[in-house]
Amino acid sequence: MMKEQESLWISQAIIQVMEKMEWVSEKSKNKIPYTTINGVHDDRSQRDDYADDDGINWWCNGFWGGMMWQMYHKTGEGRYMEIARISEEKLDQCFEDYYGLHHDVGFMYLPTAVADYRLTGNPDSRKRGLHAANLLAGRFNPAGRFIRAWNDIPGSRDDTRGWAIIDCLFNIPLLYWASEETDDPRFKQIAMLHADTVMRHFIRPDGSVCHIVEFDPFTGERIRDYGGQGYEAGSSWTRGQAWGLYGFLMSYRHTGKPEYLDTAKRIAHYFMAAVPDDAIVPVDFRQPEKPAWCDDTAAAIAACGLIEIARQMGEAEKEMYLKAARKLLFALYENHCDFSRKNDCILQKCTGAYHNENHEFPIIYGDYFFIEALLKLEDQDFFLW
Ligand code: GLY
Repeated sequence: MMKEQESLWISQAIIQVMEKMEWVSEKSKNKIPYTTINGVHDDRSQRDDYADDDGINWWCNGFWGGMMWQMYHKTGEGRYMEIARISEEKLDQCFEDYYGLHHDVGFMYLPTAVADYRLTGNPDSRKRGLHAANLLAGRFNPAGRFIRAWNDIPGSRDDTRGWAIIDCLFNIPLLYWASEETDDPRFKQIAMLHADTVMRHFIRPDGSVCHIVEFDPFTGERIRDYGGQGYEAGSSWTRGQAWGLYGFLMSYRHTGKPEYLDTAKRIAHYFMAAVPDDAIVPVDFRQPEKPAWCDDTAAAIAACGLIEIARQMGEAEKEMYLKAARKLLFALYENHCDFSRKNDCILQKCTGAYHNENHEFPIIYGDYFFIEALLKLEDQDFFLW
């Protein structure tokens, strides 16, 4: 068994990722996968009813394109660009549908259209990115200074007009990009007002974060928080902690505001202290002992954020964050990766939400962030956020 400290496994893992991407990209080139069914990628681009947000409007539909752009950046092979553009063009249907889009346009268009524009200068991609940024900016609630998360949830009586969620820290980089691109500060101002609200209302004294906070959509007053995809209100959904950790770091990268870096570090310290000795990350740090569901996506996203924090630190501090990131990634590599042809995904134990019916299955953004993190460790990543 290889020792984590030797770090030889990192270059070995990257070789295995590249070998897998070579055949799986060809096999799934016309799909937008989310998970696997009997080992084979499913295809979310097949369902186009706007009311069905599990179909073409599904928030995860940018990650396959993002994986292809990472591979294009790493290898320079044009076929990855061609496959990424298949997703990007399919996502135009979402602009047509309109009703299926919500704050997750950042997750959808940063790894697809904006990545394309940044890497190739494609003018159609720029237009798509700006269109998505305008939709996101239009969700800003000036009374509460937050971006509304979801639309009304079909079949639910919840009033979501005042809901903001921690995950949105990953959508607002679309606004930072739009401001840089147009030289118009409005988008960045909205992003920073939202990030400031999250800093004030989502971060607990111990450095853990809430998933959902509800504000009065008319007065902006904070009403309550919800457990969301974690175990319960007051618990600590690990992917939410990871979105917070990496999300604040991105706001710092785009703005230089020191409070964002401090907040990313606070969440990171909480996260590092809460990770169990075996570095297998649970779905919620405060879930009951049994069932002990885990979530590889949280580990991979947090690892990316820790490496990004390390990039901002001096020599004396950076190794602590890098070591924690390598430990998380090594645990995934040794225990939960499938590089064989038996499954089209790499990570096998991801979980969408604690109370969902299914747990510990492949999820595309687990693979995306695992790849991003490995490439980051070798300084070969493309920063698409
Ligand atoms: N952004 C939704 C999730 O993390 O599941």
